[in-house]
Amino acid sequence: MNLDAFAFKNWLCGSLFLSLPTRTLSSKHSSKYFWIALPPPLPPSHTSARLVANMLPQENGMEEPTMFELKLSDLLLSDKVKELHASINDEWDSLQLSACQTAAGRALWKHMIHDPVADILAGEKYLRNLHEKIKKDRCNNAREVSGVILAVRTLWFDSNIETALSSFNGRENQVVLLGAGMDARAYRMGCLKESNVFEVDFPKLLHTKATLIQAAAGSNNGNQQLNLMAKSVTRVAADIRDEDWFEKLKKSGFIPERSTVWVLEGIIYYLSHLNAMQVLQTIASNSALTHTVLLADFMNKSSTTLSQSTFHFHSDWPDHLLPSLGFSDVKLSQLGDPDADFGLMHDPLNLFNRLRSLPRSVQTHPDDGTPCCRLYLVKATGYPNQTIT
Ligand SMILES: C[S@@+](CC[C@H](N)C(=O)[O-])C[C@H]1O[C@@H](n2cnc3c(N)ncnc32)[C@H](O)[C@@H]1O
Repeated sequence: MNLDAFAFKNWLCGSLFLSLPTRTLSSKHSSKYFWIALPPPLPPSHTSARLVANMLPQENGMEEPTMFELKLSDLLLSDKVKELHASINDEWDSLQLSACQTAAGRALWKHMIHDPVADILAGEKYLRNLHEKIKKDRCNNAREVSGVILAVRTLWFDSNIETALSSFNGRENQVVLLGAGMDARAYRMGCLKESNVFEVDFPKLLHTKATLIQAAAGSNNGNQQLNLMAKSVTRVAADIRDEDWFEKLKKSGFIPERSTVWVLEGIIYYLSHLNAMQVLQTIASNSALTHTVLLADFMNKSSTTLSQSTFHFHSDWPDHLLPSLGFSDVKLSQLGDPDADFGLMHDPLNLFNRLRSLPRSVQTHPDDGTPCCRLYLVKATGYPNQTIT
């Protein structure tokens, strides 16, 4: 596997969105990337991993952490939370652990994402691990700093959830987070105050998450109070590969006729083609009953066919696939597009801007023959009884 391919795989796998291509010090303006080894961990503080960062203004006016210490909160270092994370690390498989890695990204990109509980949900190991990678990226003058993709992806979903909710014009609504993992939107997004949120994931993950959230809510050692921002949050233990997941969701209070935002963030490519299509079809069928907004990220084929990839489902053209299932108004964005930039993708030579400048049909990069591994951010809408064109 060539280095770029390895880089992308590394980016997508293990430290999903947390480790990124790094340019060599000597080739600051070259488009070649190499991967740094992923070393062990270091520390963060309450109710979040507090970055004590020297912030340097960037060209685009945004700020990114440059050098920072990681201070672990008392809560994170408490016996109870440490024990919970020890059992997570012993018992969870890599699929479930990806939820902690994602939370670590949100905790350490807190200058862009306010997530008051991300550090507690991530745990010390993943915070230290990512913190080391960010430090190395900074030292190596990386074009993309570890976690930036996760930050952009999170901000894109946040922004589109908010827009979708306002499109419901005050009607009662619900938000379903499929493969919710350690997502804490119910505790951090004010726009959910009139929404019933459903978090669907494996039983043991949801159980541990609830215990960690309880510990954070009951903690008095931080200066931030953890409050539920959503109207309600309901955890639905289900494997979305099983036929009965939608029934379980309904039994938990999901109302098929109520306006719904479906959030499939960092989940669909873990499923087989068959399972992913079944999930999308279930959502599409329900959209015949009510105003529905689907938000999902898709990998293209090149992203999932790299050696030892843990990913399966892919779509090079989700903007064609979703209309064929009955969705309309499909909008596809790539990292670095104006609505998927957030001031974080300003280097024209970074991996994602180089990809964006090529037609999507191009499979290998003409400059260096590397596979064009892409992540698409897609929004689609479904309306009751709409005619499929
Ligand atoms: C990379 S994490 C993303 C979590 C969350 N969406 C976020 O962005 O923070 C993937 C999540 O999908 C969950 N997941 C994967 N396959 C699943 C399945 N078949 N049924 C339910 N959850 C699943 C994992 O347990 C994990 O929490």
